[in-house]
Amino acid sequence: MNDALSDTRANAIQVDHVTLELGDRAILDDATFTVRRGEFIGVLGPNGAGKTTLMRALLGLLPLSSGSIRVDGQAVVRGNPSIGYMPQIRSGLAGRRVRGRDFVAMAADGHHWGLPHASPAVRADVERVLDLVDAHALAARPLSELSGGERQRLLLAQCLLGKPKVLLLDEPLISLDPRHQTGVVDLVRRVQRELGITVLFSAHELNPLLNSLDRVLYLGKGRAALGTVDEVITKAVLSRLYGSPIDVMRVNGRIFVMSGDVEIDKLDHAHEEGDEGHEHEHEHDHEHDHAHGHKAKGKHTHNV
Ligand SMILES: Nc1ncnc2c1ncn2[C@@H]1O[C@H](COP(=O)(O)OP(=O)(O)O)[C@@H](O)[C@H]1O
Ligand SMILES: [Mg+2]
Repeated sequence: MNDALSDTRANAIQVDHVTLELGDRAILDDATFTVRRGEFIGVLGPNGAGKTTLMRALLGLLPLSSGSIRVDGQAVVRGNPSIGYMPQIRSGLAGRRVRGRDFVAMAADGHHWGLPHASPAVRADVERVLDLVDAHALAARPLSELSGGERQRLLLAQCLLGKPKVLLLDEPLISLDPRHQTGVVDLVRRVQRELGITVLFSAHELNPLLNSLDRVLYLGKGRAALGTVDEVITKAVLSRLYGSPIDVMRVNGRIFVMSGDVEIDKLDHAHEEGDEGHEHEHEHDHEHDHAHGHKAKGKHTHNV
């Protein structure tokens, strides 16, 4: 399942016998996998499995206890211009009056003074990324007037500044209702294909990504499994990653990962939206009727 391609230039990310420790816990324990250039990888796994920690390691923000990582053929380095990163915690955006275009520009290197003072190169790059995510209409409006899905579009634009080759998107779907989730996944997939870049997209539900991902990287119990959905989303692999018996059910093109009669991803993350202040954020959403749809969904199978 883990490719060991000899040509490193063909690979976007090579993780070779990597151990990552936080405190006295091994978040990853001797993990080896290779992401090829131009792949859209869904990064899944229970809460606390290490999705965020892995992304931080790829960014050089966390020392490796052992092993090596190469991104775009290069050893890991902080501030790597080849990587665009959307961090998991994005609370507080909903209350901001800053205009969309200025918000995107704020993420450009060395431009903390606002767009009027930006260099022509930065201005051009801002327009380029707004084009890519089709956000020119949003760019004139303040963040506070945008829906969660629209703000996500601008966050993606920020990640694309400087033409990175690899995007690390940490849980872009948290707090979005299902309709907006699909919109964000479709957008990322379109941009990823258009630019031929590599995407690691973490999520706690597989289904919204099913039509877009090339392969899945599933983390759990210090292990990592990378492969196609058919290779990874199986009883045997997931039971190993969760450390307990897991069932996989396929219903109408959707896949449900079950522990007993409980759908495991819903159970795991049921508390998360409130934790990050997204309840408040929904007050500004234009889709009140959908805002809590995700949360209201049952944790049990009978909702299928
Ligand atoms: N600074 C830290 N020190 C010790 N443990 C941490 C630290 N940050 C995160 N952890 C723990 O590391 C594990 C992996 O966390 P994380 O990468 O955020 O998982 P995920 O993104 O998959 O939910 C969790 O058990 C978390 O509690
Ligand atoms: Mg995380």
